[in-house]
This record gives sequence, C-alpha cells and structure tokens, in this order.
Amino acid sequence: MTAPPASPAPRPSPSADDPPAQARPVAPDGSASRRGRFTRFAVGLTGGIGSGKSTVADLFVARGATLVDSDAIAHELTGPAGDAMPAITAAFGPGIVAADGRLDRAAMRTRVFTDPDARRRLESILHPMIRALAEARIDAAAGAYVIVAIPLLIESVGWRQALDRVLIVDCPVETQIERVIRRNGLSRAEVEAVIAAQVSREQRLAAADDVIDNGGAPEALAPQVEALHRRYLELARG
Ligand SMILES: Nc1ncnc2c1ncn2[C@@H]1O[C@H](COP(=O)(O)OP(=O)(O)O)[C@@H](O)[C@H]1O
Ligand SMILES: [Mg+2]
Repeated sequence: MTAPPASPAPRPSPSADDPPAQARPVAPDGSASRRGRFTRFAVGLTGGIGSGKSTVADLFVARGATLVDSDAIAHELTGPAGDAMPAITAAFGPGIVAADGRLDRAAMRTRVFTDPDARRRLESILHPMIRALAEARIDAAAGAYVIVAIPLLIESVGWRQALDRVLIVDCPVETQIERVIRRNGLSRAEVEAVIAAQVSREQRLAAADDVIDNGGAPEALAPQVEALHRRYLELARG
C-alpha cells in the first residue's frame, strides 16, 4: 500500500512500506531540529533477546519517562477480547484461541513454526495494529519524552524514521544466551535459534544513536541511564 503524498499534515502516518517521509527542516545551527515525526520526543529502545531492554526501560520509567512497549501492546491486542482476536481467529481458526479467548501463544508458535506463511499472515494482522496503538500512545504521552520499546526496531525502517533516536541495549551474545536460559528455562539451542533469527549485534550497533552497555553488573546500568535521561530531557526541550 502506498501512502498519499505528504501534505502539510503534522505527521504522515509512518509504516514500514512507506517511502521516506520528508525530514523535519534542519535548524541553521543543526541543534534544535529533530528527525522524529511524533508530537513527543520519542526514543526507540531495542536490543537482542535477553540484552536487558525491559530492565533498562524500567530505569527510564523510574526517572519519569513514559514507556510505550510494543510487546505489551501485542499482549493487549491478543488478550481475551483483544482487538486483534477476531481477525486472527478468522485467519487461523478457533484452534489458536485459548479457553478464555486469548491467543494460545503455544499453539500459534507451533503453527508459525510449521508454516512459514502463517508468520507473515499473523504479522500482517498484528503489526499495523501494534503500530497504530503505539503511535497514538506516543502522541498522547504525558512525560517529557517517550521510550518506545520495540524488539524488532532495527528491522523496521518505518519505525526508525519516525523516531527521534535509536537506543541500543548491548551485551555479548554469550551473555544473552546465559540470561535467557536462566530467565525462560529454554535450551541453549532454542535461544540460539531465536538469536539467529534476529539482526546481528553488529547490524544493531550500526543503527544506534546511543548505546547502553549491559555486559556487566546490573549496577552499571543506572549511571548510563541517568546520563541519557538528562540528555533526552535536554533534546526534548529542543
Ligand atoms: N546486567 C545484568 N546482569 C545479570 N542479569 C541481568 C542483567 N540485566 C538483565 N538481567 C536479567 O537478564 C534477563 C533478561 O533481561 P531483560 O531486561 O528481561 O531483557 P530483554 O527485555 O531484552 O529480553 C532478566 O531475567 C534480567 O533480570
Ligand atoms: Mg523484555
């Protein structure tokens, strides 16, 4: 689908398939301008599985940032009576619906695993809905700036272009594996398969405006978050 040409509307609705939107005009000194398209200053937060995205997001929230979490939105949309459930049920049948009406994630995972086209169909239902809800919440956010947690941020050109900054939580792959085995009780092979399906650490870092190093102790996070929080407050003020 092609979006209509950008009119002087405040913000063309971004989507992964849209052509690049017109950038905001750059201020003469280059400092006051920002590239995002939301009414609020919006920082995309991403990182590989187990890198520490949720841990870092909590530290920003504790400092007053508003969090818009695409995973949480996906859960809302696929919960009992979730807005995505009618379309998902129509596409995949009642076998992927749990007794209480929520998406049976295990059944869906099996389906997606055995049928590559199923993943595309699921994503074509879910992603635009997640996107629309996330956008509405970013624009309505009360805080000075918004942290937008998006696991697949690097994969989505549309998201990257809509956000003011991209913040990566980084740690060595081996550390990711150990953390996810501990957190989810998965086997090493299962975690490695998830990581193999994500963009590489190098690709992620290449897209970063800011990086938080979470390869060390949890205590090392707060000072890094604090420094970025101050910077984002400043940038959000323009
Ligand atoms: N620096 C750290 N040292 C040890 N464990 C950590 C550290 N950061 C996060 N964890 C733990 O590792 C797991 C993955 O972190 P989490 O924030 O959930 O990652 P993500 O949201 O990126 O998947 C969680 O159980 C978390 O408590
Ligand atoms: Mg998380």
